[in-house]
Order: sequence, then structure tokens, then C-alpha cells
Amino acid sequence: MAVRLLVIGSGGREHTLAWKLAQSPHIQQVLVAPGNAGTANCGKISNSEVSVSNHSILAQFCKEHSVGLVVVGPEVPLAAGMVDDLQAAGVPCFGPSAKAAQLEASKSFSKAFMDRHGIPTANWCSFTDPQEACSYIRTASFPALVVKASGLAAGKGVIVAKDQEEACQAVLDIMKDKTFGSAGETVVVEELLEGEEVSCLCFSDGCSVSPMPPAQDHKRLQDGDLGPNTGGMGAYCPTPQVSQELLQQIRETVLQKTVDGMKEEGTPYVGVLYAGLMLTKQGLKVLEFNCRFGDPECQVGKLCV
Ligand code: AMP
Ligand code: GLY
Repeated sequence: MAVRLLVIGSGGREHTLAWKLAQSPHIQQVLVAPGNAGTANCGKISNSEVSVSNHSILAQFCKEHSVGLVVVGPEVPLAAGMVDDLQAAGVPCFGPSAKAAQLEASKSFSKAFMDRHGIPTANWCSFTDPQEACSYIRTASFPALVVKASGLAAGKGVIVAKDQEEACQAVLDIMKDKTFGSAGETVVVEELLEGEEVSCLCFSDGCSVSPMPPAQDHKRLQDGDLGPNTGGMGAYCPTPQVSQELLQQIRETVLQKTVDGMKEEGTPYVGVLYAGLMLTKQGLKVLEFNCRFGDPECQVGKLCV
């Protein structure tokens, strides 16, 4: 029997997901909430005005419209427990639980998790007091020049500083001026890593992993890798930076280890796990985890699957 799907989100990533899912003969219709101009009335795909912030209204809508599966695109509803709430209401939903989504929603959680499980990452420390963070930056035994709001900040909560002064200013902006709101109540101060940055994503059922082709996105706002970091200004896939051998290493030492660790800690990770990696001279290191498909990595990944 053909299934009706509901994709949550409004970006290019969700357009791609709807476009690809609609190609399946098993899928009768793809609704997107709230969607965008590209997903409005396009063959099997159409937009829905259902509220995505109220999970009980959403569950009711899914039952009334015989939605067989909900696919959640962005991190905010995942971190807010959309998967937990829909599944509790009997609506099948693809994505991690709120606890598992902490891997993205709390950088201090994910850094401590990596340390607990021996997953390679930059040296770090977290702070809830700005003065302590600044003293640490001035005395750290490694060049501690990356300052991150621990919570969700739409990919913009990371400042790669050129010196200690700029790093301290970033701490004050985040913690005192609250440039990222409550996402900056805790900051992570991190060692600066150098190398090529790659995005390695996989599907996971909570036990095993199935990697996707590795991608790279264009992070900096301006040409020549200049300007502040963005959530990604474009992407390509596959990337020649990741050989089959390296992908196997990433699979074993990062992706599988993460899924094993989450299972061991009683918060199994089901959904798409995104590892942002820096390929440094000292080997690969995890910069961040995301609990979803990348945007714009999703849009280029489609060409390879
Ligand atoms: P994150 O959200 O932690 O991935 O950080 C956003 C972006 O900031 C990354 O995609 C990198 O381009 C950059 N970045 C984060 N952490 C570091 C680091 N330790 N060293 C150098 N660049 C970093
Ligand atoms: N392109 C980076 C991200 O999706 O977080």
C-alpha cells in the first residue's frame, strides 16, 4: 500500500528530501510543513499549513490525514522532542530522540561524550562564567582560539578568533551580550584545528551505521575562504579528500563508536548522524556532530545515491 509522508522543515534540504522520497513507487504523497516555494504543488509534493511547534496538534493531523511516516529535517524540532512526542502518540517518525539529539544541541555534552568514548576531537573546556573563560584563554597550554556557544545557534555560534583578545571578546559577546541568546549560557573554548574540513554522514538504526558519500561544504561567507563561518554556502559530493580507506576509518573510529556509545549510555541514536571532521596533520578529529542531514550537503548527496 502506498504511504503518505510528512517532511518537516522549509529549506533546500527538505525540498531535496521531498523530491527524492516522491520518486518511490511506495509513496503516494509527500506533504511538507511548512515547506517553501519549491515544495508547493509539485507533482506528488505539496505544502501543509499544520503547526509544527505544537506536537499534539501535529500528531492529530497525522492521524486524520493517514500520514504513515514523518521525516524531520532540522535540528530544532528534533532537540524539542518531536520524534519522542509523535512516536508516543503512535505516529512513526524518522530521526533521533531529544536525548540523542543532544549530540548536536549541546556542544558541552558532545565534547564530554567524545572524551568518554575515546573519539578524537580538539582539546576543550566549557564555562558558565565569562571571567573564567577569559582567564583560561589567556593561560591555556594550547592555542585556545575557537569559542562556541554550547546550544543551538543555526551554525553561526562558533567564532574562530585570530588571537586571544578576539577570543575573549567572543566570550563576552556570547555570554554577556547574549548574541546567541540562551544558547550561549555555556561556552566551549577549543583548540584551533587546521586542515581540510569534511562532512561524513550515515544512517543508523541505533546499532549499526550505513555511511553516505562524504561531502564538503563552503563554510566562509566570502571568496577565498574569508569572512565569518556560515552554515554552508554551497557543497560538493563526493569529495576527493576522503578515500575509501579513510571512510572506513571514519566509519569505525567515529560513526560506529558514537552509535555504540549512545546505545551503551541508554540513549540509542536512530536517524541520520552527521560528523563534521577536520583532517589534521595529526589525524582526523571531530569538530561537531549534527543530528540530521546537512544543508546543503543533502542537496548534493542526492547525486551519488
Ligand atoms: P561547529 O558548529 O562546532 O562545527 O563549528 C562550525 C564551524 O567552525 C566548523 O564547521 C569549522 O569550520 C569551524 N570550527 C569549529 N571548531 C573548530 C576548531 N576547533 N578549529 C578550527 N575550526 C573550527
Ligand atoms: N552544512 C552544515 C550543516 O548542515 O550543519
